[in-house]
Amino acid sequence: MSILIINIKELLQVRESNVLKVSGSEMKVLPTIKNAYLLIEDDTIVDYGSMTDNIEFRADTIIDAKGKMVLPAWCDSHTHIVYAGHREQEFVDRINGLSYEEIANRGGGILNSAATLNDTSETELYNQSIKRVKEVMKLGTGALEIKSGYGLTMEAELKMLRVIKRIKQKFPIKIKATFLGAHALPYIYKDNKEDYLNLVINEILPRVAKEKLADYIDVFCEKGYFSLDDTERIIKAGKAYGLRAKIHVNQFNAFGGVALGVKYDALSVDHLEELNDEDITALKGSNTIPVALPSCSYFLSIPYTPARKLIDAGLPLALATDYNPGSTPSGNMNFVISTACIKMKMTPEEAINAATINGAYAMEISNMYGSITRGKKANLIITKPISSYNFLPYAFGDNHIDSVLINGEII
Ligand code: NIG
Ligand code: FE
Repeated sequence: MSILIINIKELLQVRESNVLKVSGSEMKVLPTIKNAYLLIEDDTIVDYGSMTDNIEFRADTIIDAKGKMVLPAWCDSHTHIVYAGHREQEFVDRINGLSYEEIANRGGGILNSAATLNDTSETELYNQSIKRVKEVMKLGTGALEIKSGYGLTMEAELKMLRVIKRIKQKFPIKIKATFLGAHALPYIYKDNKEDYLNLVINEILPRVAKEKLADYIDVFCEKGYFSLDDTERIIKAGKAYGLRAKIHVNQFNAFGGVALGVKYDALSVDHLEELNDEDITALKGSNTIPVALPSCSYFLSIPYTPARKLIDAGLPLALATDYNPGSTPSGNMNFVISTACIKMKMTPEEAINAATINGAYAMEISNMYGSITRGKKANLIITKPISSYNFLPYAFGDNHIDSVLINGEII
């Protein structure tokens, strides 16, 4: 099966050589071809170029994209899209003055979601989760990282990870799974964190590894959750099972989580709403990519990750949604990109790079996803007719997507 897209107003994120990530001032550059064509064979991008090139326009299907842009599908490298129930009451409680911390301290927050998930069957959890997966695919997401962490018992963490595995098998989008056993301390361990850490490290993790249910390991490294020492133990344990770290750090407090992640060659350090100069220094020269989650800042009214500081220091940056029931009940990467431009002063080029090639890097899939490159997977967004790509972040809140192709098929 071949598909030829012709008369593309502008083909975005065209990378001749297989770049794996872009950093610092490189992020300002978004290579494009105006008046372009793109040829797909089966699930692969095989050719592209200018309509003025002398090619034979023949294929099984021809799509005329007059006035429309084509770009790689979004690569969302940080989500908790598998969860049970919702927490809109906490949202109202915050409007009425309670903080995220106060809600968590009275048994709400992550523990609230964990209680619901423990009472939800695997089938029901799968059904609730795939509704969201289908929804984000329509919004242009073509690759997704999904974390556990709302189970917090052996049984429920495995349930979450099996649901993620089933989504991996049933859906055409690329999925990476992350084990986040250390997301919060269950109430019954509140005076005995050591026992919970032992459960995560010595019992759940070996099962997760044995059943090959995760690609990465995560920890919520935060005051009131898991300390630097706890985080180090979990990262080391994960590493022993071949799981590289992707960690939650600096959401509310900066106390060395970034340097710790870098020390263990974490793939990514995510959140970074609080960021100091030592964090920037630690990231320089490392393979660890910082990941910003602007929808979380928006929803919780907390600071935005200082993207300018990171990028102007020559570092790469990825953007992701953090889709979860507590801090970010939205998986819309289009909103993430707009918010990054509006609130974090990223240029549209930087935001698109951060949400495509750098998002793919933050899942170790940028050799096959995240740019228009010959040989990469045909995961694409075709926009509605728009005046320029700047219009995508500019006209925020509207849906500018005409159609989405995943593995070369229109969904
Ligand atoms: O990434 N910060 C930790 N975890 C999630 C939120 C968890 C929740 O409130 O359910 C996050 O924001
Ligand atoms: Fe998160």
